[in-house]
Amino acid sequence: MKKLFIVANWKSNKTTQEAVEWLKEILNLKSQISNLDQKEMIICPAFTSLAVMNWFIKENNLPLKLGSQNISNFEEGAYTGEVNAKQVSEYATHVIVGHSERRRLLHETDEDILAKLKQVLAHNLTPVLCISDMAQLDHYLAESSAVKDNADNIIFVYEPPSAISGGGAYHPESPEDANTNAAEISKKVGKRVVTLYGGSVNPDNAKQLFEQEYIDGGLIGQAALDPNSFLHITNNS
Ligand code: PGA
Repeated sequence: MKKLFIVANWKSNKTTQEAVEWLKEILNLKSQISNLDQKEMIICPAFTSLAVMNWFIKENNLPLKLGSQNISNFEEGAYTGEVNAKQVSEYATHVIVGHSERRRLLHETDEDILAKLKQVLAHNLTPVLCISDMAQLDHYLAESSAVKDNADNIIFVYEPPSAISGGGAYHPESPEDANTNAAEISKKVGKRVVTLYGGSVNPDNAKQLFEQEYIDGGLIGQAALDPNSFLHITNNS
C-alpha cells in the first residue's frame, strides 16, 4: 500500500476560531481515521492561524501537520508585510509554492516561485510545489538545479487551473488524464517523485484518483473545509 498524502488548502477561509472548531471536530472523529501510519495529513490555513493550530495539534496529539499557503521570496529583513520561511518554520513543516491562484491574481512569476522554493528548502521546510502546466516545470528545471537536487524532499502537485472548483461546482480532470500528467512530472524530474493531484478532489472521486499509479494523494481546497468531508477523503484510499 503506497503512502497517502492529503494536503488541505484552506485558501482565504476560516478565522482562527473556526480553524480550532475544525480541529475539535477532527479530534472527535480521530478514531475513524483508517491506516494512520500510511497517511500524511497537512493542513494549510491562513498565516494568522498557524500558531494556535500548532498549539492545539501538539496539546491533543492530533496526527496532523501544518503548512502555509505562501512564503516570502526573501530572508528576514526590511520587507514590509512579508512572512518569511524562518518565521513559518516555528509552526509549520510544509509550504505551498506556486499555486495557480497566486500566479493569476498576484502575478507570481516562475522566478518568484523559484525564489520561494529556495527559501523553503533553506529552512528545512517541505515545499508543496504546484505545477499547472509542464512548461513551468521545464522552466524550473532549466533555470536551477534546486528541483532535481531536492526532488526527494519536494511534494509535487499536478493541478490544472481549469479543474479548480473555486468554491463552486466540481469539475475534475479524468483520473486517467490526471495520472498521465502526474507521471510526466516524474519523467521530467528523472525519478519517481511524490506527486499529488489537485482540482475538484472530493469524497466522491478521491478513491478513483488516489488509486492511479502516479498519484500519491491530493491537494484539496473546497472539500477540506468541512471536517467530515476531509475525513471521508482521507479514508477513501
Ligand atoms: P479545489 O481547490 O479542491 O476547491 O478545486 C484545490 C486547489 O486550488 O488547491
